[in-house]
Amino acid sequence: MSSEADEMESPVGFNDRYTEHNPVSAKLFERASRVIPAGAGSSARTVGFGWSPYPPFIAEGQGSRIRDVDGHEYIDYLLGLGPMILGHRHPVVTAAVASAVQEYGTCFGLPYELEIRAAEQVVEAVPGIEQVRFTNSGSEAVGTAVRLARATTGRKLLVRFEGHYHGWQDVVYWSNHVDPAEAGPARHPRPVPSGPGVPTELAETLAVLSWNDAEGFATLMAERGEQVAAVITEPAMFPTSPSAPAER
Ligand SMILES: Cc1ncc(COP(=O)(O)O)c(C=O)c1O
Repeated sequence: MSSEADEMESPVGFNDRYTEHNPVSAKLFERASRVIPAGAGSSARTVGFGWSPYPPFIAEGQGSRIRDVDGHEYIDYLLGLGPMILGHRHPVVTAAVASAVQEYGTCFGLPYELEIRAAEQVVEAVPGIEQVRFTNSGSEAVGTAVRLARATTGRKLLVRFEGHYHGWQDVVYWSNHVDPAEAGPARHPRPVPSGPGVPTELAETLAVLSWNDAEGFATLMAERGEQVAAVITEPAMFPTSPSAPAER
């Protein structure tokens, strides 16, 4: 291999080149790290979750593109992790948000008619949805869904897959980026907390499986199906490596 190819494959080479091309993000990351834990507003955007040596800081978005503070333009496949499905600064969305704030206000802590209208439109648009609870983040939505599943089934066990991310709440902040030595055998991985402060007692409320191990899943359901409150999965494994579900 040439020395250039060596450099391409070396993580040190990547860090050097990234740092060279992203000096403004470096400064913002340093500043953010003083006042924001790990320098990012979600653990999913931290160095520990793979954004090494630091994430790019975004200056603006327009339509399908975003531009970072160092002037690089990207096609935005992240889409705000979902809600930016119509792109950035869509004129109709921008006008609707601005007029809602001007006409009604920003936040009440009490019910209001506009949230009923929004819920009605979701129910009308998405077959199978009967009621809607709005949340501010994915973590809250997941926490709500898990609580609901446990309440309606009267069961405790949550089945999840190693490498999937479901937010930072204690109930699911497990087995995101695991050290195989800690997780044990692929057929029966142990739940591994994704950070300090998660009560280890919660391990008994979880069954963790390897992604795409259909046989392991069938065995677990045969043995413990009656204890299972819910199975939670990303549609495709994304955070540790993009990996679609196996076809069966
Ligand atoms: C599949 C999935 N669930 C839940 C979450 C948590 O969402 P939030 O960061 O809004 O709390 C994420 C965020 O990356 C996610 O990708």
